[in-house]
Amino acid sequence: MKKIALALVLTCTILTACGNKQAQNCENDDCCKDANAVVNAIMERRSIRKYKDTAVEKELLQQIAECGINAPNAVNAQNWAVRITTDKALINGIRGTYNAPALIFVAGRTGVDCGLMGENMMLAAHSLGLGTVCLGGPVGAVKSNADLMSKLAIPDGMELQFLIAVGYPDEQPDAKPRNKEVIKFLE
Ligand SMILES: Cc1cc2nc3c(=O)[nH]c(=O)nc-3n(C[C@H](O)[C@H](O)[C@H](O)COP(=O)(O)O)c2cc1C
Repeated sequence: MKKIALALVLTCTILTACGNKQAQNCENDDCCKDANAVVNAIMERRSIRKYKDTAVEKELLQQIAECGINAPNAVNAQNWAVRITTDKALINGIRGTYNAPALIFVAGRTGVDCGLMGENMMLAAHSLGLGTVCLGGPVGAVKSNADLMSKLAIPDGMELQFLIAVGYPDEQPDAKPRNKEVIKFLE
């Protein structure tokens, strides 16, 4: 009887702790890991701007890109292109890429489709233990670098929309606050 009571108390304590964690943007805590993998990944993901000097496996980058192209896109036209590099000299030649060991370039006809693709890739990377940051800042510099643009070979009619830096995270930034006032249910 004592054992059952102890088990009940323990279960209640764990459930309460998990509930609180989720309410506060579930942190890296095994307690909440299995509650809902997708929701957890969304709430845990943060932009990472400090990376370990560890190469990212090509298979993982491929997997991340394939998650990207599985994003919803208008009439499944798939008007997008993904370019991936782990070339350190190339990456470090682009300012604002945080010395990341890998860089993904996303080009497309519509920013909407590409945005959905980008988030798919960043969530996939997060769930594979990798950190990312979406980068709009360097787009102008990349576009005006003819050498780099010829390497990227972006198809006609598409535009470079953003880059994604990828690497093993060397920081754990706190969640930036979100304004929940933007959400309204119609009465
Ligand atoms: C379209 C877009 C462009 C961004 N460009 C940059 C950038 O150039 N440099 C940077 O450090 N972060 C950039 N970010 C990351 C945002 O600053 C970051 O997502 C935001 O502050 C929220 O933080 P979080 O991702 O950790 O939740 C960009 C994000 C998006 C969606």
